[in-house]
Amino acid sequence: MIKSYEQLKWEMEILDEFIEKAYEGLIIIDREGKIVKFKYERLLDIKEEDVIGKHVTDVIENTRLHIVLKTGTPEIGDIQKIKGHDVVTSRIPIIRSGEVVGAVGTILFKDVQEVKHLSDHLEKMKAHVKKVNKELKRLNLAKYSFEQILTADPQMVMLIHTAKMAAETNSSVYIEGASGTGKEYFAHAIHEASYRRYAPFIRINCASIPKDLFESELFGYEPGAFTGASTHGRIGKFELANGGTIFLDELSAMPLEMQVKLLRVIEEREIERIGGNQSIQLDVRIISASNENLYDLTATGQFRHDLYYRLNVVGLKLPPLKERQRDVALLTHHFLSQFAKDKPIEITKQALNALEAYSWPGNVRELRNVIESALALIQSNVLTIRELPENISLYGSAHGSKGYAFASDGLDLKVKLDQLERQMIEEALYQSGDCKTKAAQMLGIHRTALYKKMHKLGILS
Ligand SMILES: Nc1ncnc2c1ncn2[C@@H]1O[C@H](COP(=O)(O)OP(=O)(O)OP(=O)(O)O)[C@@H](O)[C@H]1O
Ligand SMILES: [Mg+2]
Repeated sequence: MIKSYEQLKWEMEILDEFIEKAYEGLIIIDREGKIVKFKYERLLDIKEEDVIGKHVTDVIENTRLHIVLKTGTPEIGDIQKIKGHDVVTSRIPIIRSGEVVGAVGTILFKDVQEVKHLSDHLEKMKAHVKKVNKELKRLNLAKYSFEQILTADPQMVMLIHTAKMAAETNSSVYIEGASGTGKEYFAHAIHEASYRRYAPFIRINCASIPKDLFESELFGYEPGAFTGASTHGRIGKFELANGGTIFLDELSAMPLEMQVKLLRVIEEREIERIGGNQSIQLDVRIISASNENLYDLTATGQFRHDLYYRLNVVGLKLPPLKERQRDVALLTHHFLSQFAKDKPIEITKQALNALEAYSWPGNVRELRNVIESALALIQSNVLTIRELPENISLYGSAHGSKGYAFASDGLDLKVKLDQLERQMIEEALYQSGDCKTKAAQMLGIHRTALYKKMHKLGILS
């Protein structure tokens, strides 16, 4: 369709206006280097009609547009000095049918200063984002949810069920369990599953706060409340957690005087900053945890009875890992896939048996660490007993190189020998890819003897 003169004129006007607005300067030259379009008024104070048809080198100092005409190579984001200004310019050749027929020069910023302003602005924005992120972290939103608490143990499943029900209420929850059993995971998960999930989750480690700083740490203080106090005052952890959840970890380490104050706060549902005279209404759910038997501590007077009952409205007693037989295998596989990201890692029966037989004083945390360190040693994609620490590879390697130590769980010799035999056979079967002849060879027995032993020990072939 052929456009009318009016149409073309209108389009040219729009284009001119666009150029005017988009660039600080624009120049177009033809194949001889002569100017065909010139929008440099703002910068050079030269009118377009005075320069049309002139060679670009006669009009603009230091120009390189005629060079781009020769090379056909664009020059983007160059800095050029024009009338004392360092301008940011781009030069682009116009190519038709593989031939350079002209070139366009544009100026995006009339001063590098402008680019600097932009970059300064960007830096400021970056710093702002960083601050906001830090603030978000400080708010300590819960990090773990119930989905991350893995278990195949019926008792744990019940505890998770109870914890989920408690999450829907405002009741105080007290979690007891040995180190590494998952107390902190539970505390986070309860907050995360409650309607308070978008409000802060503030953890206080009662064992790490010096006795005389406890009150100010928990309730805050007004400026100049005591000697050595900051002139700005300080917001206490309870106030920070307002609307959300406070997690009192290592509760048994809370000093008795503090226990009295905490009890009062729970009863009155308000706090007062030290040196302040205004009470602040509290809406905080309290979750607490301890790896000591708190009830026993109430008997000896180290922990207040009344506070214990206030905090232990819902009580969760997490069993140690050695009592959760099924969890060792489950968690081992979980940590194997968690730490070996690039290739799947298998584990031999023998290694798994050793893990299952171990007593796990450090519970799940210890298991996680053992798997992580074993994977650092691993040569192939199968984790064997050789990569496990000696105290765990208690039942010895299948090759007998490490010797055999007895477990202290009171089994008799016959049972232990059967156990060892079973592990060795399983390991041999595993390593031989379930080939009985090879496995028998590895074990130094006849194939029929192997079948007999497998039958006796109930090993499925
Ligand atoms: N059920 C579970 N599923 C997956 N990982 C778990 C589980 N329980 C614990 N863990 C792992 O063990 C680690 C220790 O758990 P957590 O910090 O909750 O223990 P804790 O009871 O608070 O121990 P401590 O008394 O030493 O503070 C966690 O970081 C997590 O990696
Ligand atoms: Mg903990």
